[in-house]
Amino acid sequence: MKKRWRGDSIRAGVAIVGPGRLGQALGRALSRSGVQIRFVAARNLARARRAARFIGGCRAVGLSDRSIATAAVIVLTVSDRAVPLVAESLARLQEKWSGRVVLHTCGSLGMNVLEPFRKRGAAVGSLHPFQTIPSPAAGVRSLQSCFWSVDGDRKAVAVARSWVKRLDGKSFRVPTDRKALYHLSAFLVCPTTITLMHQSEKLLRRAGVPARLIRPMLAQFVAETVRNFAEFGGPKALTGPAVRGDWETLQRHVAMLRRYSPELVPVHRELVRLMLRLAGKPAPRG
Ligand SMILES: NC(=O)c1ccc[n+]([C@@H]2O[C@H](COP(=O)([O-])OP(=O)(O)OC[C@H]3O[C@@H](n4cnc5c(N)ncnc54)[C@H](OP(=O)(O)O)[C@@H]3O)[C@@H](O)[C@H]2O)c1
Repeated sequence: MKKRWRGDSIRAGVAIVGPGRLGQALGRALSRSGVQIRFVAARNLARARRAARFIGGCRAVGLSDRSIATAAVIVLTVSDRAVPLVAESLARLQEKWSGRVVLHTCGSLGMNVLEPFRKRGAAVGSLHPFQTIPSPAAGVRSLQSCFWSVDGDRKAVAVARSWVKRLDGKSFRVPTDRKALYHLSAFLVCPTTITLMHQSEKLLRRAGVPARLIRPMLAQFVAETVRNFAEFGGPKALTGPAVRGDWETLQRHVAMLRRYSPELVPVHRELVRLMLRLAGKPAPRG
C-alpha cells in the first residue's frame, strides 16, 4: 500500500458523483492507492450504498446532499449526457467553490461543461482513461498502469496527474477542440472490435467449431493481432486474402456473408477497401 498523500487538496477527501462502472472502479483503485474517498453520491440511494460498499470506507449520499461540497475533490463519473445537467445542479449546492477541484471523466467533453463550478471559484478539469471498463471489478484491474488524457486548470491537472501517478499510469493532454476526435479513436477500436468478435463468434458456431473453444480461440487470435500491431505497425501487421490478392477467397467470403450475415456485406466491402489502401494495393476490378 502506498503512503497516504498529505497534500491540501486531498486532505478533505474525494466525492464520487455517479458511481457507475468507471466511478466505482476509479473509487476503489484510488482508495487502494491511499486516496481518501469520502462520499459516493447517486440519484438512487440504494445504488450509492452498493457502490460505497464496493469502494469501501466512504459514505453514500443523495445528489442534493450538501456534504458533497465538503470534499476537496469532486469527480463526476455520470454518463456523458448527464455531465452538464449534474454539474449545473450540483454547483448550486453552495455559493462558493473556491479551494475545490472538480473533475469529469468523459473523454469527448471539454472542461467548459464544468463552468458552473468554475464561475463559483473551483478549479476544473477532466481525466479520462484510454481504457475499457465493462464492470467495476474489471476496471479496478484495468485502471492500473493505463493511459489517461488529463486537461484543465493548473490545480485540477495537478490532482489528476497525482492520481495517474498513484495508479502507475501515463498522462497526456488533448486540446479541448480535439476531445471528440480523441474519443472517436477509442470508439473505433474497442466497441467495434467487440462487435466484430461477436459476429465472428456467430459464424464460428455456424461453421461447427465447438462452442467451448470459440472464445479462447478468438481471444488468442485477436491478442496476437494486437501484439503484431504494437510490434510492426499497421501496414506490416496486415495479413489475409485482401493483402495477398486472393480475390477468389474473398468472393467465397462474400457468398457466405450474403447467406449467413447479409447485414455485414457493406461493412466487409468497406473494410476490404480500407485494408487495400493500408497495404498500398489497388482494388480488384468488378
Ligand atoms: N466504462 C468505460 O469503459 C469508460 C471508459 C472511459 C471513460 N468512461 C466515462 O465515464 C463516465 C461513466 O461511464 P460508465 O461506463 O461508468 O457509465 P455507467 O456505468 O452507465 O454509469 C453512469 C452513472 O451515471 C449515473 N447517471 C446517469 N444519468 C444521470 C443523471 N441524469 N443524474 C445523475 N446520475 C446519472 C448513473 O446512475 P443510475 O445508476 O441512477 O442510472 C450511473 O451511476 C462517462 O463519462 C464515460 O464516457 C467510461
